[in-house]
Amino acid sequence: MRGWTDGYVTEIGYTYSFHPELQPWPMAEALGDRSPIQPGQPFDYCELGFGQGFSLALLAAANPQARFWGNDINPDHVAHARWLANDAGLSNLTVSPLGFADYADSDLPVFDVVALHGVWSWVGPQQRAEIVAFLDRHLKPGGIVYLGYNVLPGWAQYLPLRELMLASARRGQGSLAERITGSLALAEQLRARDAGYFRVNPTVGTRLDALLERPVDYLAHEYFNESWHPTYFTDVAQALAAAGLRLAAQVRAADRWEEGALADTILTAGGQAAADDPDFRELLRDYVTNRPFRRDLFIRDGGAVQAIPPHLWAALGHPRDLLRRATPATRPLEVPFDAAHAMLTALQAGPMEEAALLAQGGGEGPAALMALKALDLVAPALPPDGYDQRRDACARLNALLLKDAAAADRMPALASPVTGGGVAVDRLGKLFLAAMQQGEEPVMHAFTTLEALGQRVLRDGKPITSAERHKAELAERWESFARRRLPVLHALGAVP
Ligand SMILES: C[S@@+](CC[C@H](N)C(=O)[O-])C[C@H]1O[C@@H](n2cnc3c(N)ncnc32)[C@H](O)[C@@H]1O
Repeated sequence: MRGWTDGYVTEIGYTYSFHPELQPWPMAEALGDRSPIQPGQPFDYCELGFGQGFSLALLAAANPQARFWGNDINPDHVAHARWLANDAGLSNLTVSPLGFADYADSDLPVFDVVALHGVWSWVGPQQRAEIVAFLDRHLKPGGIVYLGYNVLPGWAQYLPLRELMLASARRGQGSLAERITGSLALAEQLRARDAGYFRVNPTVGTRLDALLERPVDYLAHEYFNESWHPTYFTDVAQALAAAGLRLAAQVRAADRWEEGALADTILTAGGQAAADDPDFRELLRDYVTNRPFRRDLFIRDGGAVQAIPPHLWAALGHPRDLLRRATPATRPLEVPFDAAHAMLTALQAGPMEEAALLAQGGGEGPAALMALKALDLVAPALPPDGYDQRRDACARLNALLLKDAAAADRMPALASPVTGGGVAVDRLGKLFLAAMQQGEEPVMHAFTTLEALGQRVLRDGKPITSAERHKAELAERWESFARRRLPVLHALGAVP
């Protein structure tokens, strides 16, 4: 069938997201003295199945002291990643269109980190075996594997919805995009006719409504591959054990916080079997949270324990972004607000060592830092050594991203030489920053750029009907951006 290569969608390119889970320094922070990489030092990193390659290129810009490799079987994806690497002068990034098996046979070093986001459960058994063989051959002893994948039982109710859509698309007419649209229409029709599947699984209707809002490039890759296998954690752990890999940590601080919060529940319910077997505990945790996606860090046997330098922290958000209660994983987190607010305020002046930062929070310092980490309001910062080289490489990529925003709404982040990672900036933010760099008035620049393309931002999710109201909306957004976002971006070195 047209549009599938080895069962994988190639007719439509993937989305241009930035995935924070791929960043090396939060991985190192999560792993502590077991991390094979040290803040700001050289390392070798590989991303398998990198999609459009935006996250990989951003990490290469933010870590010019390190070397980055990656592959993707879709030639358009590789062309996009090469464009980013060439136009931003990222000589430390090398990408390949080879599939996993051929890529393993090519001239590659052994890596400190191999990362796969949204790949494992989107390819078939043969490709998963090729991935394990790749890791066995190209990962250092003690090296890190990041794996982000769809997990059971969180996806259980939705498997028949995907089967319905795929079966319909296989039989449909026209382009893949048209067949995808047709398959969603069929699902809507069945729901409208009170189909039993929708009746006894009410959350499926909610999921269908969400799918109807998503762009076709996301849907194509998320739901319309021939291979799509949400999997149990224990099956993944068993497959990776063949390459000497064991689960070491959750990469997201929010998931580590929740892990601690659920530990008693899991041990009480699971008894001795759970106490003895960490993989079984993880399986139970997936039943308790019912989360649909895991973000795991595995470590390969044979590594050494390393002394870790004092942690440095940088602010990713403004004190006004702080909430008293939030749900960063699957259950609510009560934030020690005053302590967290004081710490985030102190960080606005620039990175701080952990001991000094904790002192700002008094007795609640440790709980407040955990909350700030879980809410992604702080990130590990790199030592000052190498800052100038990082700043120059980030500035080249960021200039390209600001230029790109004039025409397209994609790649929603900028590179930070302070964290060696990314910071979220939407298209409008990038238009404001581009105006500032060109010495133009930000609101008028955003207004004329968008109006010339016949585009307007939404207000409360609804279209704005007049140019005057559009300008007023942009002025409001600029006021908030200048007050809350710009100072953070300056402190992160993401804007000069
Ligand atoms: C769901 S997408 C995820 C892309 C990217 N990692 C992300 O999360 O943005 C899966 C990616 O795997 C790539 N892929 C599929 N089979 C592959 C193979 N055998 N070798 C290399 N890449 C492959 C696809 O082209 C696609 O870009």
